Amino acid sequence: MISVRGLTKQYGGVRAVDDLTFDVEPGKVTGFLGPNGAGKSTTMRMVLGLDRPTAGTAEVAGRRYADLAAPLREVGALLDAGAVHPGRSGRAHLRIAARSNGITVRRVDEVLAQVGLDRVARRRTKGYSLGMRQRLGIAGALLGDPPVLVFDEPVNGLDLDGVRWIRGLLRGFADEGRTVLVSSHLMSEMQLVADRVLVIGRGRLLADAGIEDVLRGLGHRVRVRSPRAEQLHGVLADRAAVERVTAEELEVTGLAAAEVGDLAHAAGVPVHRLAEAEQSLEQAYLALTEGSVEHAGHAPERPAAAEVGR
Ligand SMILES: Nc1ncnc2c1ncn2[C@@H]1O[C@H](COP(=O)(O)OP(=O)(O)O)[C@@H](O)[C@H]1O
Ligand SMILES: [Mg+2]
Repeated sequence: MISVRGLTKQYGGVRAVDDLTFDVEPGKVTGFLGPNGAGKSTTMRMVLGLDRPTAGTAEVAGRRYADLAAPLREVGALLDAGAVHPGRSGRAHLRIAARSNGITVRRVDEVLAQVGLDRVARRRTKGYSLGMRQRLGIAGALLGDPPVLVFDEPVNGLDLDGVRWIRGLLRGFADEGRTVLVSSHLMSEMQLVADRVLVIGRGRLLADAGIEDVLRGLGHRVRVRSPRAEQLHGVLADRAAVERVTAEELEVTGLAAAEVGDLAHAAGVPVHRLAEAEQSLEQAYLALTEGSVEHAGHAPERPAAAEVGR
């Protein structure tokens, strides 16, 4: 469980995080969604005790990070995958982290195998690809077998296999009952993996709801094809806005694909195609975060590795 109350961070003239209050519950993947510069990384750094809040609190298992007796056993994090000493091997990197937390070498080898790095574990990390660095970062997060996991944009720079692997991993952690917070600037990515989403823009909370509710609130669209489109139209029209696109195809605004499929099934109407309208989903998300997107030209570079300090 992660609890954030009135969390605020001011960097000079920039309010990076503005009075955020939310809980992240166990057994679910909670997506932390917002455009670049929204304050996702800053929030996560404060949860992990790497940045001091200007106001408010961030707690893991009812305590501030600094008050956790064995932090790696309470919360694991993947923040900046680049923050690894390039001259060290992946295994050496993890052994150092393990030693200071009373974690055995056996556990180091276990997590290396779990993320599929066992064969390159003794190579220097400067030769690692971005995907391998991400895997090493995840191995580090898993070292203490913590019940709470925080991942900052873990799919960035990964190929499709890597992205699928991360999705499966996140789902597995949640199914084991862990608390999983994962950030992304891509709505489409969150839709595939999150049970619940927190949407932020300019440091403020814009939405905190189940993924289906957020999609509905965003007015996203689903395309459905049926040889009995007329009948399906009648079934769906009570629940959402429905438009006849072709003789067999309907466009539904305000229901998730799963809900459309379930309603059709309950009514005994055959469905030949069912798809989320991806494009409109991204657009709806942009509409929600409109005015909260920081323009690249105004964004000061943040000093990454030094402050993350891992
Ligand atoms: N160490 C820092 N010093 C000054 N400004 C920062 C620092 N870290 C982040 N910021 C600013 O805070 C805002 C939020 O950044 P960040 O948390 O990195 O957003 P996100 O992770 O959602 O892209 C941005 O305006 C960013 O430029
Ligand atoms: Mg970030």
